[in-house]
Amino acid sequence: MKAVSLSRYLIEEQRAKGKIPADLRLLIEVVARACKSISSAISKGALGGVLGNVGTINVQGEAQKKLDVLSNEILLEANEWGGHLAAIASEEMDDPHPIPHRYPKGEYLLVFDPLDGSSNIDVNVAVGTIFSVLRCPEGVTEPEPEHFLQPGVRQVAAGYCIYGPSTILVLTVGDGTVMFTLDRDLGSFVLTQDSVRIPEDTAEFAINASNARHWDAPVKRYVDECLAGKTGVRGKDFNMRWVASMVADVHRILTRGGIFMYPIDAKCRDKGGRLRLMYEANPMALIIEQAGGAAHTGYERILDVQPLGLHQRISVILGSKHEVERVALYHREP
Ligand code: AHG
Ligand code: MN
Ligand code: MN
Ligand code: MN
Repeated sequence: MKAVSLSRYLIEEQRAKGKIPADLRLLIEVVARACKSISSAISKGALGGVLGNVGTINVQGEAQKKLDVLSNEILLEANEWGGHLAAIASEEMDDPHPIPHRYPKGEYLLVFDPLDGSSNIDVNVAVGTIFSVLRCPEGVTEPEPEHFLQPGVRQVAAGYCIYGPSTILVLTVGDGTVMFTLDRDLGSFVLTQDSVRIPEDTAEFAINASNARHWDAPVKRYVDECLAGKTGVRGKDFNMRWVASMVADVHRILTRGGIFMYPIDAKCRDKGGRLRLMYEANPMALIIEQAGGAAHTGYERILDVQPLGLHQRISVILGSKHEVERVALYHREP
C-alpha cells in the first residue's frame, strides 16, 4: 500500500471530501512543520543545551523550562507569516500574539500548549505540543482575548504531537481522528492509523493519586471501586497509569482505551481545576470525541463549556465512553 503523507491526507480532505478549506490545510501543515523543529530540538537533549529552567514564571504561575520558551518561539515564528492567522494564543503568553503588520492576516485563530508535560523534559519522558484552531469572528481584524472565548465545539481542527520513542502527530479536522508518524529519513509525517477508535470499556485508569485526600466524593467513589478489583462492584481488576504528560496519557487512551482524570478537587477548586480549557481540555476533548470517546467535567460535556478567560482552568475526565459516563453519573447522584 502506498504511504499517505500528511499533505496528501489534507489535500484529500479538502478536494475529495470538501471537509476543509485550503487555508486551513496550509495552516495545519505549518503547525506540523513547527512540531518537526520542536521534535528535533527536544531530541538533542543535553547536547543541544535545551534542558533546565529559564528562571522566569509564566502566566500560569509555573517556572518556565527552556523548552517551553523555545517551543513557543518556534510555533510563533512558523505561524505568524503564513497569512492564515488573525492571532495566536499560548499557555506561555499572558496575552494573544498579534500577527505583525508586515504580514497578511487570515481568518483563523491558533491556540496552543507549546510543550505539554514539561516537568518530564529533564527526565527524558515523553512530552508534546497540543493545538486548537478556531475561526476568527467575522469583521474582527485585531483579535482581543474575548474573540478566542469560543466553546470547544467551534474548533475547526485540533491535534497534538507527541515526542516519544517516535514522534506522532494526532489530528482531527472533524472527520475522525487520525495518526501520522514522523519518518525522520524523509522528514515527513506518514499516516499510520486511520479512524482511531477508543474502546468503550476499559480496565485502566489514570489519575494523580497523590491528590486522593483532596478529591470530591464522586471521584473517590469511582477510584475506590476500581481499586476494589474483582471482588468489588466492578467485578474486575483495574490497572493504573500516570505519566504526568497529558499528551502521553491521552495517547495511551487513544491506543488501547482507558480513562484520564484531572478533576477539580479541594486543592485546585479556587482556580477552577488544574488543566487549561483552551490549550489542553478543548483540543483533547475534540480528538477523543472524534475517536468515539467522551470528555466531561463531571457536570457537563467539555466541548459545550463557554470559556470565560483565555487561561481558564477546568476539570477533565476523558477517555473510554462508558467509564466517563459512569463518573458523570456519580456526579449526578446524591
Ligand atoms: P504543562 O507541562 O503544559 O504545564 O502541563 C502539565 C500538565 C499535564 O500535562 C499533566 O497531565 C499534568 O500537568 C500533570 O500534573 P501533576 O504534576 O499534578 O501530576
Ligand atoms: Mn506549563
Ligand atoms: Mn500542558
Ligand atoms: Mn505546556
